[in-house]
Amino acid sequence: MNKKYYITTPIYYPSANFHIGHCYTTIIADALARYKRLNGYDVFFQTGTDEHGAKIAQKAEEKGVSPKEYVDEIIENAKDLWKQLGISYDYFIRTTDEQHVKAVQAIFQKLYDKGEIYKGSYKGLYCIPCESFWTPTQLVDGKCPDCGREVKEVTEEAYFFKLSQYQDKLIKFYEENPDFILPLSRKNELINNFIKPGLEDLCVSRTSVKWGIPVPMDPDHVIYVWLDALTNYITSLGYPDESAELYQKYWPADLHLVGKEITRFHAIIWPAILMALDIPLPKQVFGHGWLVIDGGKISKSLGNYKDPREYIDSYGVDAVRYFVLREVPFGADGTFSEDALITRTNADLVNNLGNLVNRTITMAHKYFDGQVINPKATEEIDNDLRNSATDLRKKVDAKMAELKANEALEEIFEVLRKCNKYIDDTTPWLLAKDETKQVRLQTVIYNILEAIRICAILLDPFIPTTSQRILDQLNTQNKSIDSLDTFDGLEEVTLNKAEILFQRIEVSE
Ligand code: MSP
Repeated sequence: MNKKYYITTPIYYPSANFHIGHCYTTIIADALARYKRLNGYDVFFQTGTDEHGAKIAQKAEEKGVSPKEYVDEIIENAKDLWKQLGISYDYFIRTTDEQHVKAVQAIFQKLYDKGEIYKGSYKGLYCIPCESFWTPTQLVDGKCPDCGREVKEVTEEAYFFKLSQYQDKLIKFYEENPDFILPLSRKNELINNFIKPGLEDLCVSRTSVKWGIPVPMDPDHVIYVWLDALTNYITSLGYPDESAELYQKYWPADLHLVGKEITRFHAIIWPAILMALDIPLPKQVFGHGWLVIDGGKISKSLGNYKDPREYIDSYGVDAVRYFVLREVPFGADGTFSEDALITRTNADLVNNLGNLVNRTITMAHKYFDGQVINPKATEEIDNDLRNSATDLRKKVDAKMAELKANEALEEIFEVLRKCNKYIDDTTPWLLAKDETKQVRLQTVIYNILEAIRICAILLDPFIPTTSQRILDQLNTQNKSIDSLDTFDGLEEVTLNKAEILFQRIEVSE
């Protein structure tokens, strides 16, 4: 039977201004999804958009269109960006999808019928123009953080989910499942800052907000934010129909990958909702760090925002993917800068990878008309390269099991570095001048080509376009992960012509 892997990104607030930070979660999730597919998993990779709420309604009104018309138009921005970044999602959920809307209402009803949701009243600081409630700590100088106007204390009728009852159950669950929240630093932070001080019941409806899913038994209320958003992970699979094919096959999720600021919703509220519904909990929530610019968040108002498509146009999609995956130690914050992206691209992709592939294939054409020959006559000096290449899969696997894409890439690039050193040590251009060394020359070229093939296959999850271009130049059909443990996978084919993979990026003063 196939192994399954269900991985999700958060569903994004629809926006016309996605920045490179937004791409971060999605690029990592894509690399993980592709890695699992490469390893024979039946993968379901889901992303989507979180389309309800007062802010969306307000923007739509400013534009003079209905909220649905507004979101219909701007979600194309997300889809276009994901396409340009090569995001291989299997399902794109929208919280305005009819299936989701009906399922959320059924979930609300079920929780209400079980006594997990009750009607009470919500007291909060309300900004009338923004139609938003704020907590005292969110206010800026005592005023609305969005528009800077006065807020008013308002009480409104609302439904609540009995989150407070789940404190002990959650702690017990974390103890029994120590890898549920990662990284560990985030887990300790959540337990100490949120669980231990005591959980309060969660407000799950609003009457002041109109753009949302109506509460089934009380349609003056709309279902508020997290109950609508978090449930996307099961409604897409057909829940509440627990016999639905996708639900049966993929739930529970293997990984919810989320940014650090929303980890607590995924690690506290979401498991509590699932416990209340009596259905299994996801296996893991990973809260990654942020991409920051000069130590600060990326934002349009700070003027450090650039449409990620500009980077893709200037440097290519794989340079952007590679930078994001390679530069940031997973879990920590990382700095994004165009200078650092250029330095990385030139050092790793142009020099280490691109030149290696180009000069090796060029040599094979020059010396053997592009014919791959595998004389199987290795020498002692070849062993380091051969062993490093055949050990690579295991090393990458160990890193990816801990979601450390940056370290997995480091391992692959270490083997590429060894290939470059091997060329310097074996000096094929001198062997070519000696008639008696032809078998040796064939062996040397074969060893480099085979090491490149192994690296190219393992690079597929991270920089898929480049991986494919290398495998095309090698003209190989042997792309399976199982061909990486021995060192004779490259067939005796005729290579295609050498092509430049990455152009050096010149930096003008
Ligand atoms: N709609 C909610 C999620 C609901 S999930 C049930 C949301 N949307 S968001 O559009 O604001 O954020 C989507 C993702 O982008 C989050 O994981 C968030 O952490 C991530 N990022 C937004 N800016 C970021 C950076 N600068 N760096 C890295 N990731 C950041 O939250």
